[in-house]
Amino acid sequence: MKTVTARAYSNIALNKYWGKRDIKLNLPTKSSISLSINALYTDTTISRYNHNQDTILFNGSLVTEKDREHICAFLKIFRQEFAIKDSLLIDTRNSFCHAAGLASSASGFAALTLALNALFKLELSTDQLSCLARRGSGSACRSIKGGFVHWDKGTRCDGKDSIGRQIVPSDHWQELRILIVIIDQREKKISSRNGMHISINTSHYYSSWINQAEKTIPMFFKAVYAKDFKSLSHLTQDEWHNWQNILNTSNPPLHYIQPSTVKVLCILEQLQLSGVDCFYTTDAGPNVHVVCMAQCVERIKSALELSGQTQAIITSTIASDPYLIGQ
Ligand code: PMV
Repeated sequence: MKTVTARAYSNIALNKYWGKRDIKLNLPTKSSISLSINALYTDTTISRYNHNQDTILFNGSLVTEKDREHICAFLKIFRQEFAIKDSLLIDTRNSFCHAAGLASSASGFAALTLALNALFKLELSTDQLSCLARRGSGSACRSIKGGFVHWDKGTRCDGKDSIGRQIVPSDHWQELRILIVIIDQREKKISSRNGMHISINTSHYYSSWINQAEKTIPMFFKAVYAKDFKSLSHLTQDEWHNWQNILNTSNPPLHYIQPSTVKVLCILEQLQLSGVDCFYTTDAGPNVHVVCMAQCVERIKSALELSGQTQAIITSTIASDPYLIGQ
């Protein structure tokens, strides 16, 4: 096979990854849980390339020097581990904007990992793929599967037990929808990587937060298995507010959300009070992810559009597993 294309989906964490116990291996200080998003995906096409260096394209143009360094460091891990010598032509396309808190690195590194596995016929297991994707970006280890995914922080120093595994597939809770409320598409000023580093080193509440948040993981499992919307809603929003406290008590404080984000959250809280089944979270950015029941989508969208705070609202179902296109 000369060229392969893999599609992997972005994910939104309901219980966040925020801090590394090993920077090189991207090992987290706590476990996390995410939901895969069908509307936000990355398609990565790779082929062997007869040149002395890799060519990496993103949405049709050469990637920035910073992104190139990050991707080349990841390719180096593959090359060393599997004795790969070939140069590569990598063409990556996103269905959405880059680095605006829409977890583009998660779908990007998951798609690249799957494509490399196929091109070089490595036949890696899903757990091995998850471990490798994690080296590119922590949250990418959760994009190796669809549906609800749990990333167990693991305890080993080599990270072999720090893996994203599916809790339930996408069809377990078919009535759920995810609305991605775009407030600002610009790239964030402080990357997640730097933000985590700041929080872990400066927030006095950091260790109590990770201990408390880890304890809620079994409760998330229970709510997901039972399709208990109310419990999942409380758990996710509580977790989001606790994480915001960590961001606010970091030095410098990490202001990923914007005034418009807060206005949108207030509207969602009003809707909740009037009985609309929805709850919210954000990534490290200003945009809001709303999880809701399918029958509530139009009501939520019209309330948010009327507020004038949003640039666009993307409606999504839950994504199934990533796959190779044309196979
Ligand atoms: O995987 P990274 O390095 O892009 O970090 C992701 C951090 C958050 O999106 C804020 C949280 C998470 O668990 O996805």
